[in-house]
Amino acid sequence: MDHFHYQDNDLFCEEVRVSELAAQYGTPVWIYSKRTLLHHLNQIQQAFAEVDPVICYSVKANSNLGILKVMNDAGSSFDVVSGGELYRVKQAGADTSRVVFAGVGKTDAEIRYALENNVLMFNVESEAELDAIASVAESMHTVGPVALRLNPDIDAKTHAKTTTGKKGNKFGMDIERAEQLAEKVLSDKRLSLKGIHMHLGSPILTTEPYAAAVVKAAEVVARFRARGHDTRWINLGGGFGINYRQQEALPASAYAAVIVPTVRAAGCRLALEPGRFIVGNSGILVSQVIFTKREGGKLFVIQDAAMNDLVRPAMYDAFHRIWPVTPKVPAPQNFEADIEGCEPTDVVGPVCESGDYLAKGRSLPPMSRGDLVCTFSAGAYGMAMSSNYNSRPRACEVLVDGSSHRLIRRRESYEDLVAHEIL
Ligand code: LLP
Repeated sequence: MDHFHYQDNDLFCEEVRVSELAAQYGTPVWIYSKRTLLHHLNQIQQAFAEVDPVICYSVKANSNLGILKVMNDAGSSFDVVSGGELYRVKQAGADTSRVVFAGVGKTDAEIRYALENNVLMFNVESEAELDAIASVAESMHTVGPVALRLNPDIDAKTHAKTTTGKKGNKFGMDIERAEQLAEKVLSDKRLSLKGIHMHLGSPILTTEPYAAAVVKAAEVVARFRARGHDTRWINLGGGFGINYRQQEALPASAYAAVIVPTVRAAGCRLALEPGRFIVGNSGILVSQVIFTKREGGKLFVIQDAAMNDLVRPAMYDAFHRIWPVTPKVPAPQNFEADIEGCEPTDVVGPVCESGDYLAKGRSLPPMSRGDLVCTFSAGAYGMAMSSNYNSRPRACEVLVDGSSHRLIRRRESYEDLVAHEIL
């Protein structure tokens, strides 16, 4: 469910016409629906309420302060993977004692910054990292709270570049090593073992990987406790899938049904790190057609959003629904079908790379210069992964709340592009 809908072939975000937003803020523009953000956060909060979880919105999915503030005000905590993300959540007013710090390569400076801010726990990925946390904690006369990140060797069947819980990925450690490291933590006064962490990959559209992971987690917790650890937390990471194509996403309650009973039986607190599930369907990218051209037997729609804005199609062969903002043909149920009145179209951007496309061979209605185009489900890993490639200023971001809207990041200027450079 989201709050983007067509009314008489006119796209709305909540109660606001998208074409009016494009006229006011220019294109390309990222438009987010606050109601959709809150709907998805609430869904997770309610589905898992029975085990009183800490929901740590995964900042990497979309780190705009305006989005973080909405999350914070609605009771979400945060999953951060860098000092920069920790700085951002502080700016948004987060209680850092509920923040988890993940990532395979934390520097001493980042570890110090996190300890100064009293984070809930570090998701630890290696013995070397454990040693680094212990020594920074010692220098600060404090104790480093850690969760060991397991690589459970579960195939979550995601894109090769977004699977993380399989043997051979750089993430986590196998269960034998986690058990050795747990012994090490027990004998080290500078560290305390809070729990275990896993993240299986992203996006995951079935519950089976979580069902398997939580059982493994509970077994490990039981073994740690038998050895005298006060292991309290199971953190199952993020990865819940969203509607990219049709209505393929599972409700949060489906994931909860396989996770909650095992967590409760284990007597553990639950942490989750959802990013995409909350923000993915809450955002669209709106662009404007610059030219159309026919060449080599193909129709190209060249519009002003490019791979520097949304890199997911180029990087992961990702599918995003695309449709005009004020279409001549009503938006279909199935965006992958051949649609009457439409023609196979490549939607491309101005960047000088063949990989610069948002869709290939997509059945789309006729479009011409000046038409507005919407790329749906772009709220997660969209702006967050954008760049200035080809010296293209980043687009602006707008947050819609009912019938009101406000800029939450202004469009970059040419001056911004060179602001950090030295002649
Ligand atoms: N926790 C950890 C440890 C993670 O590595 C990630 C995502 C998350 C939580 C949040 O996952 P989510 O709930 O958002 O699926 N750029 C890719 C996705 C990369 C995901 C990286 N880690 C994409 O655009 O599909």
